Amino acid sequence: MSSKKFGLLIVIMLIGAVLVVGCQGDSLEEANKAESAEQMDLAEINSFEEGAFEDSNNCAGCHGEIHAEWSESMHRFGWENEFYQPDYLKASQETDGFTDVFCGECHAPTAVRTGQLPPADGSQFDAVSKQGISCDYCHTVKEVVEPVNVQTVSEPGDIKRGPRGDGSSPGHEIEYSEVHTEAAFCGSCHNVEHPTSEVAVIDTYDDWKEGPYAEEGIRCQDCHMTPTPGIAENPGKSSPMGEDREHIATHYFPGGSAFFHEKSGQDERAEMAKEMLRAAAELEAEATRNNDSLELLTTVNNVGAGHKIPTGVTYIRKMWLEVTVSNEAGEEIYTSGHEIADNQIDPEAVFYLKLFEDAEGNTTNKSWLAEDIAYDRRIPAQGSDEEIFEIPVETDEELDITVRLLYRSMSQEAADGFDSEEELKVPSIEMARKELQVE
Ligand code: HEC
Ligand code: HEC
Ligand code: HEC
Ligand code: HEC
Ligand code: HEC
Repeated sequence: MSSKKFGLLIVIMLIGAVLVVGCQGDSLEEANKAESAEQMDLAEINSFEEGAFEDSNNCAGCHGEIHAEWSESMHRFGWENEFYQPDYLKASQETDGFTDVFCGECHAPTAVRTGQLPPADGSQFDAVSKQGISCDYCHTVKEVVEPVNVQTVSEPGDIKRGPRGDGSSPGHEIEYSEVHTEAAFCGSCHNVEHPTSEVAVIDTYDDWKEGPYAEEGIRCQDCHMTPTPGIAENPGKSSPMGEDREHIATHYFPGGSAFFHEKSGQDERAEMAKEMLRAAAELEAEATRNNDSLELLTTVNNVGAGHKIPTGVTYIRKMWLEVTVSNEAGEEIYTSGHEIADNQIDPEAVFYLKLFEDAEGNTTNKSWLAEDIAYDRRIPAQGSDEEIFEIPVETDEELDITVRLLYRSMSQEAADGFDSEEELKVPSIEMARKELQVE
């Protein structure tokens, strides 16, 4: 049997497994069947021989700058990312492999589409599949069927699709593709729906679509494929052989992953991620003093993100408020959200994140167990979130108040659970800060 047919067979078997797992009620069963039929069509359309997608290194000779940018992006590490792998393998273990292809479709799309996944451990991956979300995956997408769970149509080959279509290249044919200029292209992966419960695991695209930026026509590409927050244009050529252009889309795709970049020795990328985080939020604080207490009103404004903050895998990230009140001698008389033992965070802090509820009604951050949303507190695009702190005060001295909005790429518990030789200490990144004094 050819590896292509073998891959297809496994996909069909997996879909069979979805149907069996999903047989919980007539309507659900029907819904699952209809969806699976669609997915089966797509799986068939997207089934290619090994080697169908080109190695990103083939693009480097002519698109050197873009290649260098992409090489240190999270897309490049979509699969090999050491923070992704433990979660993925745990999901695989706990679901008897049900999630392998599901996760892989996004994190290693060409591996699934060339039948190299399963097996789950990536042992059949060629060099291209290991590149995660590679150049050729993105630039051979022909259609976005629906912007969720990678419902795209691939057409690998000589034609590379992009935002122009007017250039000429000795390396390949060029075709204008409206799809690549739209946020829905990103939404095909940045919108994740649980395959059976339909819980919105990641909702970045839907959230953007309902928000003010979509209305103004400001796309994901306008913030994540530009040099830095506040600089919208990157004039130049995409290839030395190409035309001069007013803006060449940058391929760093910066987001919140400062810790990953730092750990990988990519200091400039880490700084870029921090810049994104700082551009996202501003803090306001007002304090009113009564006889024996202080009322502190904090407001977090989402001024820079096109979606809620945090977004994406908010169930893995941490974003919270840290409050410190000190007396004239500099002694802390009240704290909230501070680091406690073992680099953990005060569990009583005001956290901004989303967590799931599993089938037993327990709160969980395992996306594959999500039956419902248990907790969702995030700050919408151009919106704000208020909190009141009632702080007992036993002195009439002047007080110094510091409020900080902090971010971690993951919880310390998650880092402690990794099978890693070195001890991982997850750093806290300051997104915004406000200081004030009260008489
Ligand atoms: C996650 C998907 C994705 C990946 C991965 C990706 N690109 Fe792109 N690329 C895009 C999108 C989307 C645009 C168009 C953005 C816009 O609307 O301006 C683009 C634009 C381009 C352009 C046109 C630039 C211009 O403005 O003329 C070139 C050339 C290009 N990419 C090459 C590459 C190469 C080479 C790689 C790998 C080293 C790569 N891309 C990886 C999504 C991707
Ligand atoms: C032999 C050189 C060469 C190689 C190799 C090459 N390209 Fe290109 N590519 C070009 C040139 C030249 C252009 C036109 C640039 C211009 O005029 O703006 C181009 C344009 C593009 C565009 C923009 C299409 C558009 O009009 O929007 C994309 C996307 C692209 N290449 C992707 C790739 C990918 C992906 C690879 C690797 C699989 C690759 N290229 C390999 C030379 C090359
Ligand atoms: C094939 C699926 C896919 C497509 C298409 C895609 N992404 Fe991603 N993107 C991912 C995955 C998966 C990750 C996370 C990789 C990881 O952390 O292991 C990611 C990471 C990112 C990050 C980094 C977030 C961080 O934490 O630093 C940004 C920003 C981003 N993508 C923006 C975009 C934009 C903008 C587009 C459209 C032009 C796009 N992506 C298209 C799958 C995709
Ligand atoms: C107005 C600018 C803007 C637009 C539009 C925008 N983003 Fe963002 N995005 C940001 C900023 C700023 C951050 C950093 C804050 C954060 O990480 O929460 C960010 C963070 C992210 C992250 C990282 C989240 C994390 O911390 O793990 C991802 C992924 C992402 N954006 C994807 C997208 C996608 C997909 C779209 C389009 C549907 C989009 N963004 C539209 C500005 C924007
Ligand atoms: C439809 C696309 C899609 C599917 C399916 C998907 N993911 Fe992701 N995943 C993403 C995107 C997009 C991001 C980046 C979001 C961000 O940066 O906040 C991401 C990020 C992650 C991260 C964070 C990595 C880091 O750098 O911290 C983990 C862990 C992860 N995914 C695990 C999984 C697991 C396990 C599955 C299967 C149960 C899965 N994902 C399925 C799109 C997907």
